[in-house]
Amino acid sequence: MATDIDVAALDPAATAAAGFASRYGTAPAGLWAAPGRVNLIGEHTDYNDGFVLPFALPQRVVVAAGPARAGWQVSSDTQPDPVSFGDAEVARPGVLGGWAAYVAGVVWALRDAGLPVPPARLAIASDVPVGAGVSSSAALESAVLTALIGLGGLDLPVERRPGIAQRAENAYVGAPTGIMDQAASIRCRAGHALFLDCRTQQVQHIPFDVAAHGLAVLVVDSNAPHRHVDGEYGARRSSCEAAARLLGVPALRDITPDGLDEALHRCADAVMRRRVRHIVTENQRVLDTVARLSGGRIREIGPLLTASHASMRDDFEITVPEVDVAVEAALTAGAYGARMTGGGFGGCVLALVDAARAEETAAAVEAAYGARGFPAPTAWVAAPGPGATRL
Ligand code: GLA
Repeated sequence: MATDIDVAALDPAATAAAGFASRYGTAPAGLWAAPGRVNLIGEHTDYNDGFVLPFALPQRVVVAAGPARAGWQVSSDTQPDPVSFGDAEVARPGVLGGWAAYVAGVVWALRDAGLPVPPARLAIASDVPVGAGVSSSAALESAVLTALIGLGGLDLPVERRPGIAQRAENAYVGAPTGIMDQAASIRCRAGHALFLDCRTQQVQHIPFDVAAHGLAVLVVDSNAPHRHVDGEYGARRSSCEAAARLLGVPALRDITPDGLDEALHRCADAVMRRRVRHIVTENQRVLDTVARLSGGRIREIGPLLTASHASMRDDFEITVPEVDVAVEAALTAGAYGARMTGGGFGGCVLALVDAARAEETAAAVEAAYGARGFPAPTAWVAAPGPGATRL
């Protein structure tokens, strides 16, 4: 594949360990890693108390960590300047800005949950693409969280960890995201997709060994500039919450497909009707996808993926021409199904393809981009990797 990212060529574990040694003059006490994710299906359903089905990417953030006398020192392979902070910066949310906010936010959220966070020196390295909609920020939060828990021997059950990482993002960094990304980064298992009920936080690991079925998930980064992503995300969330209030339910999760027509009838606003329809139908598509995967019918999830894309494009209105073109080109090249994955307004598309046709499909998308004068996309085949772990 001409546009392949050579994952093996980048080794964040070695980079983090070397970064630690050169910065602090000693070896780290350990290395902890947490992956980025792609979401197979279930978009914008998480903050509606609904269902999602992400899987972990092989790309990950690695944190080399060791003890310190006081405070936190952090360096990153992608940032020119290391950052140090102490109690003042983690006394309340938002004191520190920039990339280090993701680290300080985790320290703050852990402490806020009553946990004795150890002072630490950290060196971070990552091969998770940034700005591609594959959750590089959740991977960073989850890796730092896992490292601090490991270093300090903190007692925090795995089910509670995503919520703490999400608080770092919501309250400290200030992004109103749902629980999916941190849950995926922390709780995914290799060879599986994570079926998460975002209301109860219950998970089921759904076998998703595409290679065993002669299939591949092709991920195509549209490389489209993210447009108005923060404001639009917040607007979608507000609209869903307003709809739930209007319909008298705790969250849109509580509207079932059977009750959809009646719910739509009660929404006077056409935009709100479209938002509601996306969430209700998307939740059902997640359930249908899980049923097909559980029955070993992997190819048959294709139409659900494609229907999800149409719903994001027409009802939730979060796609951009680059991702629509990538989906169309992949389908024309024979993909079983394709959809944008992640929050929207750019980012990545995933396509379920015969493994032998992955390269051809990537080339077809690239050709379609060339024909429209879009910058070249980046594509790679993603096998479901493990969640956060000590290396
Ligand atoms: C972003 C958010 C998630 C989720 C997705 C959309 O990735 O961080 O919480 O809402 O968008 O599904």
